[in-house]
Amino acid sequence: MPLADIYGPDNFGLPAHARSLPGARAPLSAQERARALPMPPLEWTPEVEAATAHLYEKVQTVIPPVEWPFMAPYIKAINELKRERDAVILAHNYQTPEIFHCVADIVGDSLQLAIEATKVKASTIIQCGVHFMAETSKILNPEKRVLIPDSRAGCSLASSITGADVRLLREKFPGVPIVAYVNTSADVKAEVDICCTSSNALQVVESLGSDTVIMLPDQYLAKYVASQTKVKIIAWKGACEVHERFTGDELALIRANDPTVQIVAHPECPPDVIEASDFTGSTAHMIDYVRKNKPKRVVLVTECSMADNVQAETGGVTEFVKPCNLCPHMKRITLPKILDSLVYMREEVTIDPALAERARASVERMIAVG
Ligand code: 13P
Ligand code: SF4
Repeated sequence: MPLADIYGPDNFGLPAHARSLPGARAPLSAQERARALPMPPLEWTPEVEAATAHLYEKVQTVIPPVEWPFMAPYIKAINELKRERDAVILAHNYQTPEIFHCVADIVGDSLQLAIEATKVKASTIIQCGVHFMAETSKILNPEKRVLIPDSRAGCSLASSITGADVRLLREKFPGVPIVAYVNTSADVKAEVDICCTSSNALQVVESLGSDTVIMLPDQYLAKYVASQTKVKIIAWKGACEVHERFTGDELALIRANDPTVQIVAHPECPPDVIEASDFTGSTAHMIDYVRKNKPKRVVLVTECSMADNVQAETGGVTEFVKPCNLCPHMKRITLPKILDSLVYMREEVTIDPALAERARASVERMIAVG
């Protein structure tokens, strides 16, 4: 059914643009200096070339040989320091190929990363993704040290709503269960009944046994779920700044040029884009679609780096047509900043323990649904 209603930052509280994350990286603290290791050498040498040759093989179709000598010394240093620091690197599907294929230990969509975060044995987690993902790892691992290479890696969805907004929604709709997309701050997760990701949003909404559900903050994910269920959905007016830029018209043009092309879209896209697509799913479901169907030509309507990551593993079977939108927040995570994280053990993600406990209940309820 169509969305029942939609609320947004204009109705409640501060407008989204007044809620941005801090603009500058914090200077190194005395504590970070005290626990720093020496910065490893970063020259391109025959030893570095030999030690990283097996990794270059994995990414050679998407990273030109001329760029590799700049990346390989960082990759070798990161992989060595990871062991020394007892750290594990979790990377989202939108990380660039040199991170995704060459230094990450665990990769996946938001749901997979949240589930894997509960199984980590290492004492430190380095989250290569955006801030809400690092917060989710910390929520699920309060006793571990969680680092993000750049804490300014935000998300337009997460910054569109606050815990105070959720409390106002509760006052307005007493008794209506509230589902928060994981693309929200810990403050918001603590106020809601359950979380969801793009992988399980429909199951989570239907698991609540309510004829009406509030779903926040992504209006397009909410519209997509509303189109798949009889549950009445009340939405929030947030949007992903990357996916909302795709249009049905640009996809129609691509299809007019090649009627055989497969179009695969993320549910954060607007309805005309979903309408123009052959398949809609989370980033992990989009990757599975390509692995299973092996299309000759495909458009992945999502952040650009994911097409590079899949292209690296599909060995030329599939041609990727790329209308390319980059997520500026995901792109804040780079090899030099990951190395910096390991050398200085920065930037640590901290959450008030009482708040984290309430947020954990919402994330764990979601994981129980699947
Ligand atoms: P997924 O859960 O599908 O990986 O999506 C996360 C995200 O940020 C998409 O923009
Ligand atoms: Fe947020 Fe969109 Fe970037 Fe995903 S792609 S992190 S939803 S801004």
